[in-house]
Amino acid sequence: MKPDLSIDFAGIKLKNPILTASGTFGYGYELADLIPLQKLGAIVTKTITFEPREGNLQPRIAEVESGMLNTVGLQNIGVKAFVEEPLEKLNKIGVPVIVSVAGAVTKEYVETVRILNGQNGISAIELNLSCPNLRKKIICHDLCLLREIVREVKSVSKVPVIAKLSPLATDIAEVALSAQNAGADGVTLANTYPAMAIDVKTFKPKLSTLKGGISGSCIKPISVRCVYDAYQSIKVPIIGCGGITTSEDAIEFLLAGARAVSVGSSSLVSPRNLVKVIYGVENILEEKGIKSVKDVIGFVNKV
Ligand SMILES: Cc1cc2nc3c(=O)[nH]c(=O)nc-3n(C[C@H](O)[C@H](O)[C@H](O)COP(=O)(O)O)c2cc1C
Repeated sequence: MKPDLSIDFAGIKLKNPILTASGTFGYGYELADLIPLQKLGAIVTKTITFEPREGNLQPRIAEVESGMLNTVGLQNIGVKAFVEEPLEKLNKIGVPVIVSVAGAVTKEYVETVRILNGQNGISAIELNLSCPNLRKKIICHDLCLLREIVREVKSVSKVPVIAKLSPLATDIAEVALSAQNAGADGVTLANTYPAMAIDVKTFKPKLSTLKGGISGSCIKPISVRCVYDAYQSIKVPIIGCGGITTSEDAIEFLLAGARAVSVGSSSLVSPRNLVKVIYGVENILEEKGIKSVKDVIGFVNKV
């Protein structure tokens, strides 16, 4: 018999724990001709803000060893346009939709969520509190601001609220605990790591904003460690994210304590990879005679 891949994440029923990572899969519906979107556990949209944003100047992307840098700068059409078209198209797919939200100040987060509240077909909000390209300081590095945003959004949101955190923290468990204590129903660990690359031919930084966020295989061990550390301290479920390319990578995050995982940069190389990861997780569990994916979540912590 095939193993059961279904999980419950903060009250949301997912047919499997494999999600898209925000910003690496467009609004989520555009790739319908390339991959069977209904196979995904959930779609996490690119980050939406209250007002439309043009994003940062080019170049916004640079390849580095075993990863990439980006400084997209949250380019998006703004929440009012998002609910008119992309959300309607997303709702036709038949998978849970998690809308990623950001703002420069608390009020922007809250006002964006108020507009989303009036819509059907949103399973959860993921608060992007960890963008390295939005403000001078990453929001979740200020624990007071992190708590304020989570608390205020939670007080208006009609759906579960997931806090997406930065891996750049002295004590990630403390940051995750702050999010939980402020009311977050789950956390995503983690976003990109602030980073820089310089072209030695031109002597110039490779990104227009000089620095950006690094993602891909090279950050996986850091993000796995973040999940492991946070799992020991918090009760709310974790979405593991960072460098997942294969089903083995996904299992690694689950073993560390993630209840679901999101796949980012590797989808930019091949969006179909997401489906391979789902089938691969199923095969690994079957080969090991494990009946349910729930049995591997946090296993390493029990050893
Ligand atoms: C091009 C690009 C755009 C991204 N945009 C967003 C975004 O809009 N919101 C967000 O929360 N994370 C964004 N991220 C971060 C990813 O969701 C993910 O957390 C990070 O890339 C680590 O996962 P990965 O190594 O699998 O890519 C972006 C990443 C990339 C590479």
